[in-house]
Amino acid sequence: AYPYDYLIVGSGLFGATFAHFAHKRGARCLVIDKRPHLGGNVYCQDVEGIHVHQYGAHIFHTSNKRVWDFVNSIVPFNRYTNSPVANYQGRLYNLPFNMNTFYQMWGVVTPEEAAAKIEEQRAEALAKMRAEGATEPRNLEEQALALIGRDIYERLIKGYTEKQWGRQCTELPAFIIKRLPVRLVYDNNYFNDLYQGIPVGGYNRLIDGLLEGVDTRTNTDFFDDRAHWEQMAPTIVYTGQLDEFFEYRYGHLNFRTVRFETEVKPQPNYQGNAVVNYTDAAVPYTRIIEHKHFEQFGQQVYDNPHTVISREYSTEWQPGMEPYYPVNDEANNALADRYRALAATLSPSVIFGGRLAEYKYYDMAPIIEKVMGMWE
Ligand code: FDA
Repeated sequence: AYPYDYLIVGSGLFGATFAHFAHKRGARCLVIDKRPHLGGNVYCQDVEGIHVHQYGAHIFHTSNKRVWDFVNSIVPFNRYTNSPVANYQGRLYNLPFNMNTFYQMWGVVTPEEAAAKIEEQRAEALAKMRAEGATEPRNLEEQALALIGRDIYERLIKGYTEKQWGRQCTELPAFIIKRLPVRLVYDNNYFNDLYQGIPVGGYNRLIDGLLEGVDTRTNTDFFDDRAHWEQMAPTIVYTGQLDEFFEYRYGHLNFRTVRFETEVKPQPNYQGNAVVNYTDAAVPYTRIIEHKHFEQFGQQVYDNPHTVISREYSTEWQPGMEPYYPVNDEANNALADRYRALAATLSPSVIFGGRLAEYKYYDMAPIIEKVMGMWE
């Protein structure tokens, strides 16, 4: 007889949400995580009373009312609205590209003036490409120029994209940028979703709420004693790396990662916004996150005399580093497919779920939606 119905490997949003629904249905669950804390990548560390998003900024957004109502039933969410700012050589531009950006860029005031300016710059870029004998954009630079023109490309896209990928835009494929939405309205709200926010009291509240009443163990790696953990339950929900589960027998799946340089500042307000992108190639980091702005608004910012910032550096991933973003190129997708075929042979006694086990980028809301679907 097994002591549990489910052994859940990984306490990120997938594992924690799965455990929540299983526990509610009366199933006995054990959640283990190799990290010293629960929550996976949404975990926040408390530094000077500020919730620091240790694994990168996390902003919850969805248009799915059921998902929104569900997470709010675990912990209420605040009204944080993501409106990043770009800093290019000391000048600031609102994102995403909207009438504020165009006013800052060209001084244009009406939507007609902005549309005409963009059209003029696109036409210039297309004429240049055709003069060189190209019929289709041959790389990311030409694609961006054809979609939005020189000024926005050079000041807001080029340097940022080159830092993100560690390669020149002229050496990156055009398909990376399919569309560049422009808004001819004065609206800095980054997401188009109906709902967005941050849990009041931070993400750890969401995780603690999901895992209430569930047995958990941190500092516990499934692979340190695989045979032991496999005796715990007839069904394993695995949310770790797909290739690791199969001992890398076909080789390593690749990732992109981010290095964070986090610093406490002896001042209440460093940059006045949660997210500032540095779009100039000469600045080595891509963004600075100032964590308190996710949860403190207006004058509340000054209640705490300190602030915490994180500079983000895009970094090539090596085994041993945090695997953040799957690289969904042909070689990695083909390798992942071979591992997925192995995984399918273990169904239903092993359920592979989440961003690492599916080798697929997921935002938080789709993860929750997926697990909710499994329990309906
Ligand atoms: P997650 O990685 O959170 O959890 C997996 C857990 O398994 C980890 O805790 C790990 O320690 C554990 N584990 C792995 N192997 C194990 C083993 N062998 N034994 C025991 N435990 C093991 N989404 C969004 O909606 N808005 C946003 O703003 C962002 N921002 C963002 C920034 C960055 C940098 C990244 C990489 C991702 C985002 N996301 C996001 C996506 C979000 O992080 C993602 O949806 C969730 O983390 C997915 O949860 P999982 O449970 O799948 O993985």
